[in-house]
Amino acid sequence: MRCYLAAPVSRVRGAIRVPGDKSISHRSVMLAGLAQGTSEITGFLPSEDCLASMAAMRALGVRIHQRSATDVAVEGVGLRGLQAAGRPLDMGNAGTAMRLFTGLLAAQAFDSQLIGDASLMKRPMERVASPLRLMGADIRTAGGTPPVEVRGGRRLHGIDYAMPIASAQVKSALLLAGLYAESPTSVLSPAVSRDHSERMLQSFGVRVVTEGLRVTLHPPERLAAQHIAVPGDFSSAAFFIVAALLGAHGEELLIQGVGLNPSRVGLLEILRLMGARIRVENERASGAEPVADLRVGASALKGIDVPPALVPLAIDEFPVLFVAASCADGQTRVTGAAELRVKESDRIAAMGAGLEALGVEHRVLADGLWIQGIPEGAAFRGGDIDSRGDHRIAMAFSVASLRAAGPIKILDVANVATSFPGFVALARDIGLEIDEF
Ligand code: S3P
Repeated sequence: MRCYLAAPVSRVRGAIRVPGDKSISHRSVMLAGLAQGTSEITGFLPSEDCLASMAAMRALGVRIHQRSATDVAVEGVGLRGLQAAGRPLDMGNAGTAMRLFTGLLAAQAFDSQLIGDASLMKRPMERVASPLRLMGADIRTAGGTPPVEVRGGRRLHGIDYAMPIASAQVKSALLLAGLYAESPTSVLSPAVSRDHSERMLQSFGVRVVTEGLRVTLHPPERLAAQHIAVPGDFSSAAFFIVAALLGAHGEELLIQGVGLNPSRVGLLEILRLMGARIRVENERASGAEPVADLRVGASALKGIDVPPALVPLAIDEFPVLFVAASCADGQTRVTGAAELRVKESDRIAAMGAGLEALGVEHRVLADGLWIQGIPEGAAFRGGDIDSRGDHRIAMAFSVASLRAAGPIKILDVANVATSFPGFVALARDIGLEIDEF
């Protein structure tokens, strides 16, 4: 089993770039594969999750040339050009890939089967299967979880669906199926969720209309090949943002080229409410997505009640936010985050257990966590943390080494490669002392 040993450190500084955005990389190979002509993707994230999406598109008959780790050319086969894979499509650890492909494959002329690793095989899939059935799809799950069996040859029709949870994965699966429907597909979300699919579909020439929390896709004739420049992943930057905040007084970290899509940056707002000094510089556009540089200065944080409206905008950042809260003056309460229980691990339970090991006073809530920050000048005790095979739990506790009295050993870290290849090297560049073995 792969492990990290993170030694106590106190200084964080430098100028870095983080790898490409995971959500956008998944979508880029899918939509490029359905387009007419060759699309060029730059800044692609060559992580295990996104490579699973790439492998699935190849298995479905799309020719993809990886010119370098991050530069990819995709020869689109057109909306109706995919072919049966003839074997189960393995999505590995990637919930996004499994849910989006379920939508895409629901509309094809052939049958498909989707499987994944031990974590993914336990994750809920009816949230996509059930609305897709309302569109006319024939999808079976094994009591709600994978394998997902998709029967092809069904004619789909548009629906007007009100999602019970604010899920970009569910919304995106329905929009992908909606590309093939006989009538427009509308999805109403109870709160804002990331809108990368909407933006990218529009770039490919699809009419997607957003009115408040409702998005409507009008089935297109075709998608036109594009150049997609994938911005740096805000969710990967989040670990280094918090590391810089916890660093020694007066130090600063610059993170360049980070995607700042408004539906992703809830963590910035939450951290600012906690007293963080984060400057957004050099704002620009990278195709359909906003990008900027972030200058983060070491800051004294204070505990807050996290506004529930910000939860879906920061959904992947809670593991590292809980570490920040553990270093803040006073109490922090997060509620309305029950979705964390069905991510790559039960992130509320995993973080609670890890904070326990480090001696942080906390209470596990049904839908969140209450944390009493350690007093100023105090430190976590070192100890062993089980990441439960969850990449974001492993990276979050690496950052805790900035306030630890002894080494933190983090178990089961191989899955960091699902989202952030090169994490340890980059963490070392800015001053963390992590050994992997
Ligand atoms: C994602 C959406 C989010 C997020 C996941 C990636 C996406 O999941 O947690 O890591 O790319 O659409 P939900 O939409 O299910 O909340």
